[in-house]
Amino acid sequence: MSTNRRKFLRNLTIGAGAFSMSLPSFANFRQAKVKKNEEDQFESIDHGEQQFNMCGYAAPKIETVRIGIVGLGMRGSGAVERLSYIDGVEIVALCDKYPDRVTRAQKTLEKMQRPKAKEFSGEEGYKALCESNDIDLVYTPTPWELHTPVALCAMNNGKHAATEVNAGKTIDQCWELVETSERTKKHMMMLENCCYDFFELLTLNMVRNGLFGELIHAEGAYLHDLSREYLFNKNAYADMWRLKENIGKNGNLYPTHGLGPIAQCMNINRGDKLDYLVSMSSADFTLGDLAKEMAGKDDFFKPYTDMPYRGNTNTTSIRTHKGKTIMLQHDVSTTRPYSRIHLVSGTKAICQKYPGPERIAFGHEWIKQEELKDLYAKYSPPIVKHIGDIAKNIGGHGGMDFIMDWRLIDCLRNGLPLDQDVYDAATWSSIFHLSQLSVKDKSKPVDVPDFTRGAWKTNKPHDMTLNGGATTGVRKVKKS
Ligand SMILES: NC(=O)c1ccc[n+]([C@@H]2O[C@H](COP(=O)([O-])OP(=O)(O)OC[C@H]3O[C@@H](n4cnc5c(N)ncnc54)[C@H](O)[C@@H]3O)[C@@H](O)[C@H]2O)c1
Repeated sequence: MSTNRRKFLRNLTIGAGAFSMSLPSFANFRQAKVKKNEEDQFESIDHGEQQFNMCGYAAPKIETVRIGIVGLGMRGSGAVERLSYIDGVEIVALCDKYPDRVTRAQKTLEKMQRPKAKEFSGEEGYKALCESNDIDLVYTPTPWELHTPVALCAMNNGKHAATEVNAGKTIDQCWELVETSERTKKHMMMLENCCYDFFELLTLNMVRNGLFGELIHAEGAYLHDLSREYLFNKNAYADMWRLKENIGKNGNLYPTHGLGPIAQCMNINRGDKLDYLVSMSSADFTLGDLAKEMAGKDDFFKPYTDMPYRGNTNTTSIRTHKGKTIMLQHDVSTTRPYSRIHLVSGTKAICQKYPGPERIAFGHEWIKQEELKDLYAKYSPPIVKHIGDIAKNIGGHGGMDFIMDWRLIDCLRNGLPLDQDVYDAATWSSIFHLSQLSVKDKSKPVDVPDFTRGAWKTNKPHDMTLNGGATTGVRKVKKS
């Protein structure tokens, strides 16, 4: 990290360690009323010239992609199974803090008729995994805290990195990812699966074909009530990491599902860039009360009472350099149906995915569902036509997870640029930190760093054709 070029206001740590992933003790946790660490403040400084442009970068072909997976919880277990379907893949290493999760993942490999993988465990087991000389790609579905450290360790050890969302939690981390990917010429892809959902791909291809005219405005979100089933469930997130993330921060903690597909439609970092944002959060009306309710039934939850919980609903508005606007929302603790909104509005058309049914309009009325079917038939991009049905069968959020995994592997095997590069990962993730800075100061405007350092003016949108690829098969597995 080039600390000489970056000055962060650090060491304002009033109980900061208490919010790290492994709590030393709940006594510390209780004292931590206000979190002040690197997420609190940073100074925007000049990051100089780009070292190497990773946008459009094609790494050397890898015939068989040898994967190490770090994090074998709910998401990681699904990844082991999904990736096992793909030809030209070997899952050679498995790592989790807890060895029994590694054992469970080995059973999945066995069920998928795949060879046993090397095992790594413990808090720092991922370091030895990254140092192994028989791995090409480190795939990381861990708690957010680990995403950047694992990706950096992977790239610094000569591996490509694919990490779950968000890629970085701070602007500092986002810059580190960018600078390391440029220096090592290793891909750093954030696994933003929502970019591969069917309606998102349809509307992106329609935008590319000019059916929306000039885009003006878009809306995206992560609105998903996780509170009872996941956040306050002892058997869901390991060590309660996600509940802890909702303490001591106030902003949009999960921006990329909403922003990723919109940013692709708007050619962010590839013709336009995010300029600045303003962000506002409501107060918390549910999590504090739920903590008390749960603590009344189970002492386990007592340390989670009287904590500074994130305000329930966050709304962030972003303006792009070309004058387009984006509205993002985040709420994981309010009773409501699931939504990522996915509204894209242009001079000639508008679409909206949630609440269903999916809709598109070219005038005052939404088109009929039969007309939407025709649009699906005509404008679904080649990747959907090639792998969409197989993906629906294999599953993973209706198929989008498998489309993403298959495309990542196919690009690596054919030496193609990835659809999402490190600048996308950094920019989309940066809202996590920037929204907190704005909320903290009465919704003040905050600039979004240009992680491409000017290359956005000439970078090209990613290729949706499958040209040069689509050579990767999918295995039929008869599970016992
Ligand atoms: N893209 C999506 O649709 C989607 C969906 C769900 C989750 N996610 C993301 O996936 C990630 C994992 O979420 P999850 O729901 O699986 O959580 P989880 O708690 O079920 O899994 C996390 C796993 O990481 C392990 N872990 C913790 N510290 C570790 C360390 N030091 N080394 C190795 N392993 C460690 C835990 O033991 C656990 O098994 C999160 O970033 C989450 O945001 C993405």
